[in-house]
Amino acid sequence: MKLEDVEGYLLDNHSGTTDEQRLATLKREISALLERKVAGAFVEVGCYRGATAAYLRALLDLAGEESRPIHVYDSFEGLPEPDTIDGTHLAAGSIRSCQDDVIALHRELGLAAPIIHSGWFHDTLPAELPDTIAFGYLDGDFYESILTSLRHCVPNLAPGGLLIVDDYADVESNPAAWNGLPGVLAACEAYFGRARPLEVLPGSGDLAFGAYRT
Ligand SMILES: C[S@@+](CC[C@H](N)C(=O)[O-])C[C@H]1O[C@@H](n2cnc3c(N)ncnc32)[C@H](O)[C@@H]1O
Repeated sequence: MKLEDVEGYLLDNHSGTTDEQRLATLKREISALLERKVAGAFVEVGCYRGATAAYLRALLDLAGEESRPIHVYDSFEGLPEPDTIDGTHLAAGSIRSCQDDVIALHRELGLAAPIIHSGWFHDTLPAELPDTIAFGYLDGDFYESILTSLRHCVPNLAPGGLLIVDDYADVESNPAAWNGLPGVLAACEAYFGRARPLEVLPGSGDLAFGAYRT
């Protein structure tokens, strides 16, 4: 399937977790990362039904990187209990998927399925992350989930590597950023020990993407 067809399929069928801005930003950043010849695996921490993992696979395949592994992590029981800082936008148990959803989506798009790690991040990440990460997409929605993701992914990030944190709303830098999950920014500030620690990735609308580069 052509990349435009993969994009069209995801926009039509997975609009709850992806959109044109996210796809365009991922395409731009992954293309630059591959040009830099950064070593290591790709990881998605919080994969839900696999839409972003499938897009990453399509981008890698198009670049002739069929053998670069993608690891995905999810409870497949939905979200954990929110902290107070996470607000009331999403409840425990919501956004629930299963491993077969991830596999079926990849099959539908003619893509190889990722390596799936099922369980809570605090159980899987310490033992099951690749030693060298070139790119990570951190999309756990809640304070504790993002903090755990950063604690384990940042130390394994390769030189020249990139982590993108979804739902990172730095409204001082981008007042249009979607700000429905305030625990995400709070977790980044707690991990890095300073205010607004990530680079805000530009987007035309309400994109809320934070970037950490090594
Ligand atoms: C917004 S969805 C991810 C969407 C996906 N990245 C995409 O682009 O399609 C968030 C996912 O994170 C998972 N999740 C959040 N916190 C978690 C945790 N602490 N341990 C395991 N899974 C978690 C949820 O089960 C949910 O599937």
